[in-house]
Amino acid sequence: MTKATFIIFFLVGISLVVSGCVNHMNDNYNMPGQTYGWHEPGYMYPEQYDPSVSSNIITEFSSNGEMIYYTGFNESGQQISIRDGMPWLYVHGGSCVSCHGVDGKGGVPIMMSNVIPPDITYEALTSEDEHEEHPPYTDKTIKVAIREGKDPSGEELDNSMPRWDMSNEDVDDLIEYLKTL
Ligand code: HEC
Repeated sequence: MTKATFIIFFLVGISLVVSGCVNHMNDNYNMPGQTYGWHEPGYMYPEQYDPSVSSNIITEFSSNGEMIYYTGFNESGQQISIRDGMPWLYVHGGSCVSCHGVDGKGGVPIMMSNVIPPDITYEALTSEDEHEEHPPYTDKTIKVAIREGKDPSGEELDNSMPRWDMSNEDVDDLIEYLKTL
């Protein structure tokens, strides 16, 4: 190979790599803030979410709790691991917002499950009259629901609700965020 052909090959190679990256960056998948794979309820694949459609979904987070709610990552960039939960969560990412929605009120059926995610706004969880099957939630029992998947009477929640392996700090921040919904 002459030096000139080598240089041509080299340049073509570089430009392919660069254009590959640029294409990738224009992909929906890599929209800013979507690298974590959040999506709205009912969407199994983040790329099905169309950012041009008006929506309340946000891409910048003002607290650790909000970031976890949307992305399943905490502010240090650690992904919170889960036990159980829907298989697509592992593959495509997602977090509370994927099932309980931007307003926390749930109500939208999720892929591959027939259990409708409930309202998890703090107000609904702790209200006296909303739950007949178990006592109202407290901060302590909300933590148990999130980490161990049990309601306040100790009943197992459906296993479409993931069991989140969350630190004390993260779970506290998340509950603070639920109070704002
Ligand atoms: C894959 C869907 C999915 C994701 C993701 C998810 N949940 Fe759930 N969650 C559910 C479903 C479904 C239930 C209802 C389970 C049942 O009724 O047995 C539930 C129940 C709950 C409950 C108990 C509510 C009640 O009324 O008893 C809490 C609290 C909760 N989720 C919080 C969260 C938080 C916080 C996150 C994010 C860290 C989260 N969930 C992520 C699907 C999901």
